[in-house]
Amino acid sequence: MIPYHYITNSWYVAGFSDEFKTNQLKGHKICEKPIVTWRTSDGEVVAFDNRCMHKRMPLSEGRIMSDGTLECAYHGLCYNSTGQCVAVPSHPDGNIPSKLQLKPFPIIEKHGLVWIWPGDPEKAEEVSPPETPEISSELWESIHSEPMEVKANYLLLIENLMDISHFYPLHDGNIGDIDNSRIPIKLVEGEENGNKFVKTVRIAESYTQPPFLQDWFVYDTVDRDHSHCMVSPGLTRVEMRVAPPGQLDQDDIIRGYTLFHTHTPIDDKHHIWRWCVNCKADHKSKGDPNISAASRVAQMFPEVVAQDLWALEKQQEMFDFDDDEYMEVFLKPDKALRRIRQLFSRAQQAELQAIEQRHETKVPLKAVN
Ligand code: FES
Ligand SMILES: [Fe+2]
Repeated sequence: MIPYHYITNSWYVAGFSDEFKTNQLKGHKICEKPIVTWRTSDGEVVAFDNRCMHKRMPLSEGRIMSDGTLECAYHGLCYNSTGQCVAVPSHPDGNIPSKLQLKPFPIIEKHGLVWIWPGDPEKAEEVSPPETPEISSELWESIHSEPMEVKANYLLLIENLMDISHFYPLHDGNIGDIDNSRIPIKLVEGEENGNKFVKTVRIAESYTQPPFLQDWFVYDTVDRDHSHCMVSPGLTRVEMRVAPPGQLDQDDIIRGYTLFHTHTPIDDKHHIWRWCVNCKADHKSKGDPNISAASRVAQMFPEVVAQDLWALEKQQEMFDFDDDEYMEVFLKPDKALRRIRQLFSRAQQAELQAIEQRHETKVPLKAVN
C-alpha cells in the first residue's frame, strides 16, 4: 500500500559527535549501504564503503594502526584516511593496484552530530544537514540518548513524532495530556537549505499545564507555542515555549525545550532512533531546584520512548499481512502525516525514476558469437 521504503538522497545522522572516538572503527548500515567510519588523529570523521576492496571483509572488523592506516582483519591490506590502499602484505614488490580505493561517503560533522549522505553524492552538494545549534551551545544543556534500533520503518517514527493525538492513551500516566491533542493545528510547509519541511504549530492561551509540565517549566498557567517539525527525512525538531499569559514575546522569561529526534533508516523495516533534550542551561525544575530542567525532562524520556517503540514495532508487524480491502483512514489531526507521506512518496518515485534512467542509458551488451 504505502511506499514504505526510504529516501536515500538525504543527510542522516550516523551518531552524536561523542560516539566517534579517535581511531575507533564503527560499522554502520544506512539505507542498506555498509559504511565504516572513524575519527582520525586530526579529529576529522571519515566514511567509506565498509567492504575491503580485496574480498569484501567488513573493514570495521579491522584496526587502526599506529601510523593511522586502517588494516583489514583478513589479509592485512591497509588504507589511509582518504580510502587509498597503501600496503598489500602479499605483494613484496610493493605493487598496489590503483583500483584499491575505497568509495567515500559524503560526511559532515556539525553542531554535535555526524551526518552521512548515503545517496547520489552529486546531490549532496545541493542540501545541508539541518541546524541543531542548541546541542553545541553553552547557553543550553543538552542530554542525549544512546542509539536505539527499532524494528520498524522510520516513517512510522516520523509520523509518531508529528502526532500528539496518541499521547492519550499510549502515554497515559506520564505525558498523556488529552487536552493537548484537542488544540487546533496550523500546518506550515517550506524548504530550508534544500530540505523540505513539514511543521505543525499549536498555540494555546491561558493553558493550565499538567503537573509534569509545571515541574519542568515552572509556570501553572501559560500561553504556549508548541511546534513539531520534520526538518528533513533524518531529523524531527520539537519545540515548546511557554510564558505567563500575554508574555510570550519576552525571551528572558520564556521556559521550554527543544527536542531533536534523529531517524536513520537501516533498511525498510529497521531504523536507528536517537533523541536529544535541550533546555536553557540555567533553567531548574520547579519541584527540585537542584535539578536542571533538561535532566528532569530526560528522566521521563526513556519510559515515554519505550511506549512509542512498542507501538512502532507492533504497527510494523501488521505490514506483513496483505492489504486486501484494508486502507488506513486519516483523521483531522493527521494533516501533517498525510503531507509527509506525499513528500516521501514523490521523493522515492523520483529516486526510482533516476535509477531506471541510469539503467536505460547504459549501452546494452552486444551478443558474442
Ligand atoms: S579481504 Fe581485506 S585484505 Fe583480503
Ligand atoms: Fe509518543
